[in-house]
Amino acid sequence: MDVPHTVAAALDDRPVAGRRCLEAGAGVGNATAGLLANGAARVYAVTNDRDHARTTRRRVGDSIADSDGDADDVGDRLAVLEADLRSIPLPDGSVDLISAHGLCNVLEPAALSAVAEELSRVAVPGAQLVVDDYDPLPDDAAIAELFAVENAASELARGRPALTFYPAGFLRRFFAGHGWEFRRERTLLEPVPWTESHVSAHADRAASMAAGNPGEPGDTLAATARRLKTEIGSESVGRMYGLAFRLPD
Ligand SMILES: C[S@@+](CC[C@H](N)C(=O)[O-])C[C@H]1O[C@@H](n2cnc3c(N)ncnc32)[C@H](O)[C@@H]1O
Repeated sequence: MDVPHTVAAALDDRPVAGRRCLEAGAGVGNATAGLLANGAARVYAVTNDRDHARTTRRRVGDSIADSDGDADDVGDRLAVLEADLRSIPLPDGSVDLISAHGLCNVLEPAALSAVAEELSRVAVPGAQLVVDDYDPLPDDAAIAELFAVENAASELARGRPALTFYPAGFLRRFFAGHGWEFRRERTLLEPVPWTESHVSAHADRAASMAAGNPGEPGDTLAATARRLKTEIGSESVGRMYGLAFRLPD
């Protein structure tokens, strides 16, 4: 499996080889693939989404095995855990490096706080933390309107926003407040290419959450999401940043 450029750039100055790693919020396993490719001794890939857990197991397990022909090795090094990051099923002080690649934007502030507590708990003294995410979009970005509609639909359906874009400076201070020493910041992607398939996935998600609340404002939100999908198509805007921290010994 190819390791995306953003993951490779986020990890290339971090000590991964031989370390016990946690991918917090595995998605489809991109950072897990990067950690394994960089020689991690073990990767715990944690997600609360059953489909993501299955996809990560299949994509990462199969393809790394294919590329080096050593299926047993990957089997030994990869553990995909379907679990809530607010209560990680790992002991205190059990991981040397944590990657949160594209995780924070799907966590509203209360969830972000609970997850940060847990990341600090499972990290060994001297551990590394890599946090990669997106700065807030400029007000004139067309896709910012789509994300606002998605958030409104999510508030209506679930009582919380779907996406929160935390400025890099905010997460720097936030993780420092959880005991992590700031090491460096770099730009991973600028502008961010929001492709037609990203735009379409966000619009469909907004429309389906809004459709669960027929009448107003659900119907208007669903119609706006569908209109924006066509109008936007794709857009390149915003910045993805990479932050690195270390827990003191
Ligand atoms: C945008 S994806 C992350 C992308 C991934 N890190 C990558 O590199 O491809 C966010 C992931 O975090 C997971 N997630 C969100 N909140 C979570 C929570 N409270 N506990 C566990 N996983 C969570 C989602 O299910 C999803 O798998």
